[in-house]
Amino acid sequence: MEPVRIFDTTLRDGEQSPGVTLVPQEKLAIARAMEELGVDVLEAGFPIASPGDAEAVRLIAQSVREPIIAALCRTRLIDIEAALRALEPAAKPRIHIVIATSELHMRTKLRMTREQVLEEIERSVTTARKYVDDVEFSAEDATRSDPAFLEEVFKLAEACGATTVNIPDTVGYTVPEAMGQLVRRIKSVLKPETIVSVHCHDDLGLAVANTLAGVQAGAGQVEVAMNGIGERAGNCSLEEVVMALITRQDYFQRSVGIRPQHLYRISQMVSRFTGMVVPPNKAIIGDNAFAHESGIHQDGILKDRRTYEILDPDQVGAPKSRLVLGKHSGRHAFVERLKALHIHAGPEMQERLFQRFKELADQKRYVSDADIEALYHNEVGVATQQPKLEAFQVQVGTRVIPTALVEVADAGEVGRRAIEVATGDGPVDALFQAVCRAFETEAELVEYRLTPVGGGPDAQGEVFVQVRRGEDTAYGRGLSTDILAATAQAFTQAMARLVRARQEVAAS
Ligand code: KIV
Ligand code: ZN
Repeated sequence: MEPVRIFDTTLRDGEQSPGVTLVPQEKLAIARAMEELGVDVLEAGFPIASPGDAEAVRLIAQSVREPIIAALCRTRLIDIEAALRALEPAAKPRIHIVIATSELHMRTKLRMTREQVLEEIERSVTTARKYVDDVEFSAEDATRSDPAFLEEVFKLAEACGATTVNIPDTVGYTVPEAMGQLVRRIKSVLKPETIVSVHCHDDLGLAVANTLAGVQAGAGQVEVAMNGIGERAGNCSLEEVVMALITRQDYFQRSVGIRPQHLYRISQMVSRFTGMVVPPNKAIIGDNAFAHESGIHQDGILKDRRTYEILDPDQVGAPKSRLVLGKHSGRHAFVERLKALHIHAGPEMQERLFQRFKELADQKRYVSDADIEALYHNEVGVATQQPKLEAFQVQVGTRVIPTALVEVADAGEVGRRAIEVATGDGPVDALFQAVCRAFETEAELVEYRLTPVGGGPDAQGEVFVQVRRGEDTAYGRGLSTDILAATAQAFTQAMARLVRARQEVAAS
């Protein structure tokens, strides 16, 4: 059976979701998880975009050896040089070059003629091929480009050494039949060994259907993102395409090298790191994907699960609520549980997690798998975050104005300790105002979300916040059995990221 290569772009296109910024350690954790999942290609970032992006690509290239590691570039030489530097430690590097080919993009955005675009392709692909054997070329806005010009573009990219050519439906405009026709047309003018890829956005909710139509027409690679995150309405969902190909292999007659039992866990990780909630009714990984409400369905399921389920939750690693560890559990059991949960923590991280687990076990009777995963996701963010919330205090009640005090170490710059007090409409607002003062930065609170983790009356509270200043937005999260502590942590993380993003822009 012909394979379909899975190209994951969660860390590049996925990170382009409005308001999402992942720190390098979070990207590395996702990249390692993607390696376990078995993706063929991992697009680690766009190195020229920022020093943080370049650092993340390099970190991933050093540590993730199994998949091909791709870095995105425009046709400019400085982009290719930045990508080559970041990919230098990679076992299997890929340079991914993109330029737009639709009349609209060429005329208004690039201000280039067709001839100039062809020259750019020839120069950039030829240059990249001097340094790496694996070059992908993408024709941005391909589905709104003149198909005859697209043939010329891809033939040129192939002749200059591109090994994969990608057809992006950049604005989610195409429909399945048209995508199938386009893939067949492009394949017919290229060598059989050149891989044709599809990259679909979800503006009309057709990304998965269009991608599968591409596969049926012979595409050898699909570009997807976990939970379907990405620009605007997002990218094609990795989990949906993969499970469609696996579940209906009888129909598609194509194989994938994915180990789907990791899907649920990675989906949770991506959701936490990005702050983008998975809707409960989302296929494959949503909370309700395997829930049955009506009596008739429940009756059917009890008699034979297959009456209303085409997938087994085990197949995608959907959790069984197990209450496993408590305050008497030792380090060994804890480390074993980390392994079982596929949490790759070095000795220092293990120690920090064990301390956090012990603190938590003092506060609640049982610590569930969901608690441990949340602790881990929280610590990954904390580990890379310089400023630290040292202490906080909140005063509330019917006869006092809500007032908060925070003490933040390394606020805005290393060595700067800030102790600030502020009042607000309520305890959350007072904490937010105090943290903003600690960072000497005004900001607006765009979103505040509190979710229980682990269940039960002693559940931990997980807080997600999004803050904005001008054009810049940043997410933060906090986790604690005390929801105000979780709130103060989340504000500190978000403000630290906001300030760091501004400092990075100022430095570049
Ligand atoms: O949507 C798009 O066109 C892209 C390209 C960079 C492949 O993301
Ligand atoms: Zn895209």
